[in-house]
Amino acid sequence: MTQETLTIKDNSTGKEAEFSLLKGTVGTPVIDVSALHKKMGLFTYDPGFVSTASCKSAITYIDGENGILLYRGYPIDQLAEKCSFLEVAYLLMNGELANDAEQAEFEHEIGQHAMLHEAMRSFIDGFHYDAHPMAMMVGIVGSLSAFYHSELNMDDPEHRRISAMRMLAKMPVIAAACHRHSIGFPFVYPRADLSYCENFMNMMFSLPSQKYIDKDNYIDPVAVKALNLLFILHADHEQNASTSTVRLASSTGANPYACIAAGIGALWGPAHGGANEAVLSMLEEIGTVDRIPEFINKAKDRNDPFRLMGFGHRVYKNFDPRATIIRKTCHDVLEHISGNDPLFDLALALEEYALKDEYFVEKKLYPNVDFYSGIIYKALNIPVDMFTVMFTIARTSGWVSHWLELMAEPGQRIGRPRQIYTGKGRRDL
Ligand code: CMC
Repeated sequence: MTQETLTIKDNSTGKEAEFSLLKGTVGTPVIDVSALHKKMGLFTYDPGFVSTASCKSAITYIDGENGILLYRGYPIDQLAEKCSFLEVAYLLMNGELANDAEQAEFEHEIGQHAMLHEAMRSFIDGFHYDAHPMAMMVGIVGSLSAFYHSELNMDDPEHRRISAMRMLAKMPVIAAACHRHSIGFPFVYPRADLSYCENFMNMMFSLPSQKYIDKDNYIDPVAVKALNLLFILHADHEQNASTSTVRLASSTGANPYACIAAGIGALWGPAHGGANEAVLSMLEEIGTVDRIPEFINKAKDRNDPFRLMGFGHRVYKNFDPRATIIRKTCHDVLEHISGNDPLFDLALALEEYALKDEYFVEKKLYPNVDFYSGIIYKALNIPVDMFTVMFTIARTSGWVSHWLELMAEPGQRIGRPRQIYTGKGRRDL
């Protein structure tokens, strides 16, 4: 990280001070304003963190203008083509891709940590059958802090690593258990002989009379490949809302399972991970191609809160590289699994219409990853209310990597933003 300086002058007081200009390996330079208050008696105001770097991180790099996404330096398209999700998870957590022996050990360990404590079954049973699975995920993952608190020494890197592995291993098991609970089916235990994605599909769909996967009835490799790809694309995305939530909660030294539960809560919102579910609801609401102009006009109307779900991104202003990769898979999966779904034709027509519309072109609103992910999940028979849960499984790899990075940072401080107070000034009773 090279350093230059920048001078800030307050014309109202004439005060002037120099601040370091920090430069990462690549990317936009950042003014270090941490001494701004001390030197100038000022704070900065940046709602939504549009121009503010909240931390230093070596995990993921995004260039929004050029549609670049790198995990630990590797382009997302290369990882998507050549790696499994667990290889990517290892990379995110450890900084380098594993060799064969390291990867085998990592996957073995994931298998070892996958089982849930049996007491958790009664915890899950306490939820009403129609509870939203994201609500269950927040509660169940948070409850892991009750199961694994006393044996966790946060100052011990090995204890932290084991906590991270536990979360990565248990997340698909918890997710599938939420789904099985909602349909009243018995839970399916994880199997050590299956890959991460196969295991999840097996736990979701296996029946006592008909195993989803066994040696005679092997899962469709296109479905597993699609799931693996979606998990890689959703694995990390630098300082997004849920990861920032995990980091902020972690900065207090809170229990990691509670911090990840906070991240799950943040991911649930329709402006973030809830968008894939919202895209499907929106397509169902639009219904037919001839109604697209009506909905496009609603999205453009400033007085109408309706937004085209799956369009736009805070960081990507030209295209979302994840959307480019997933668009092709979307076609492959639909062709292979379910033939031609009218909803997909509607999605493509909507995409085409919006991409030509002046409003969307001018505001640089392009389809994001979640415009396509929901359609693929639907083709894989994943229930719509589980879509954001799927995102949760994948993003856990990113959250735990950021948690590990933050916890290992020397001199790490509690996150504590400032505000502009707009209430009443001091007054007496
Ligand atoms: N439909 C219609 N208008 C939009 C949309 C949209 N989807 N997105 C942004 N705009 C308009 C917005 O009204 C604003 O207009 P104006 O300049 O007239 O005020 C302008 O574009 C800029 O929007 P913004 O809200 O200031 O942008 P933001 O960076 O704060 O929000 C966003 C980004 C993703 C929350 C937003 O584009 C959105 O709500 N999109 C739909 C939800 C969605 O698909 N979210 C998934 C994001 S990808 C998954 C993830 O990484 O979490």
